[in-house]
Amino acid sequence: MISQELAKKLDKVKSIFDIEDIVKQDPDDRYIKKYYKTNKIPYSIFHTPTDLIYMGISRDGKYNRDDLLEQARVVNKYIKRVGAKKVLELATGRGANSYYLSKQNPNTEFYGIDISETQLNLAKKKAKKVPNYFPRLGNYNNLEKFDSNSFEVVFIVEALCYSNNKSKVLCEIYRILKPGGFFLIFDGYQSRTDLDGDEKLACELTAKGMALKSFETYTHFVESVGTSRLTIHFEEDVSEYVLPTMKRFEKLARIYFTLPLTARIAKLIFPKEFVNNSIPAYFMPTLVKDKIACYMITILTKPLTKQPEDRV
Ligand SMILES: C[S@@+](CC[C@H](N)C(=O)[O-])C[C@H]1O[C@@H](n2cnc3c(N)ncnc32)[C@H](O)[C@@H]1O
Repeated sequence: MISQELAKKLDKVKSIFDIEDIVKQDPDDRYIKKYYKTNKIPYSIFHTPTDLIYMGISRDGKYNRDDLLEQARVVNKYIKRVGAKKVLELATGRGANSYYLSKQNPNTEFYGIDISETQLNLAKKKAKKVPNYFPRLGNYNNLEKFDSNSFEVVFIVEALCYSNNKSKVLCEIYRILKPGGFFLIFDGYQSRTDLDGDEKLACELTAKGMALKSFETYTHFVESVGTSRLTIHFEEDVSEYVLPTMKRFEKLARIYFTLPLTARIAKLIFPKEFVNNSIPAYFMPTLVKDKIACYMITILTKPLTKQPEDRV
């Protein structure tokens, strides 16, 4: 049953937004690009000027800007572990992670792809400062241009959630990874399958507010892994540790939702790709506390021994 806190928030959202209109949205690649173009400046103002635009992992329960680098630090451990020569970041965004890693690992080449020109322009600026980071336009749903067995490490931060064909992406990662290589995924999921109508609605509005079609359940994602021949090397539920970042956004959203008149005016003036962000910001910590959503670190590996299907 829906918690009191979530029910209250849902009522507030309903009083400001036309929720049927939001639920009807079907964000495609064009919408995602528009979303990141519209939010170029807002992300820097409301999230962080450091271009690490995702959840910090605050293991001590308090938000610190340095927590936004935790994902990169985890990736770095695996780069060192396998002595990676070539690393690929899917959805490299503004490039902050690969830029940080390229400085830590001057003898490793970092490739990055993203579908948003707006995001990439920021990544390309960073790439000019180092000789070993190569961001370019590309869709992770099509990795044909990358050779088989060419990367020791592939990673993606808060962006695989945009794919509704994860099995295909995972099979391609299996192809481009070297045997013994790793694929690291940092992402949010729906955690329970037994949601009631309003819980489902809150999840759906949260997804659409962030330009996602929907949240996949973690169980369903793990099933896709099973079809890819990659195997799970490590899983960690870090939902509790992303709450401090979520609460920062919730604070801003609370201001928005407690001023209904201002909220309605803002909704008329600003584009929906910006204003609708207030919905996930408002709901996210409650969805995590109610165990409706979770944030996972999932590390997959391509086994060293050849599978029968790999033999010619
Ligand atoms: C929340 S941002 C995270 C950015 C980046 N991972 C980072 O760590 O800064 C999500 C990114 O995914 C990108 N994206 C979404 N769908 C994509 C796709 N199919 N292929 C490549 N990039 C995609 C967006 O353009 C955006 O830059």
